[in-house]
Amino acid sequence: MLKKVALLVVGGVFASSALAQSELFKPDDLVKYRQSIYQVMSAQAKVMGSMAKGETEFDAEVVHERAQNLGNVAKLLGETYVPATEGVKDSNMLPAAWKDMDGFQDKGKAFGGALQELIAVSGEPDFDAKAARPAIGKLLKSCKACHDDYRAD
Ligand code: HEC
Repeated sequence: MLKKVALLVVGGVFASSALAQSELFKPDDLVKYRQSIYQVMSAQAKVMGSMAKGETEFDAEVVHERAQNLGNVAKLLGETYVPATEGVKDSNMLPAAWKDMDGFQDKGKAFGGALQELIAVSGEPDFDAKAARPAIGKLLKSCKACHDDYRAD
């Protein structure tokens, strides 16, 4: 089960899908869809990040649930990375991402790996704040690593 989630996350970052081919969505709408997914991811990440920093009370179950939520929406990203979105004005995806798809995908894989680890470790009975800090930290760093190279500020 966990493996399946991780595969979907990693696979989802680069899958080009039937959605694009079906022309159900215009490029502008795909970018809005992509940005909305990132907003949902960001909300999950914020809850976990604030627990990792000790700003809110640690709750293992909440971390586990938020990590799974993140995986569930992240798997939808892949269908928004359609080349036709490259020219959309409101997109903050840098041209570097389209030029260096391998590098972009590597960042996606690192993110998928960190998320997979967090989903697994947060489901263990002995998961506590001490174990959560590095696992959540690694995930958040994987977001930033991609943004640093491939997203406009
Ligand atoms: C593989 C690269 C990559 C990873 C990993 C990644 N992002 Fe992003 N993120 C992007 C790109 C590219 C954009 C710009 C999308 C656009 O505007 O077309 C973006 C945009 C965003 C936005 C702005 C959305 C908006 O409304 O414009 C937020 C918030 C965000 N990401 C949060 C996160 C969080 C939180 C994580 C980790 C849990 C994460 N991202 C992981 C590449 C990534």
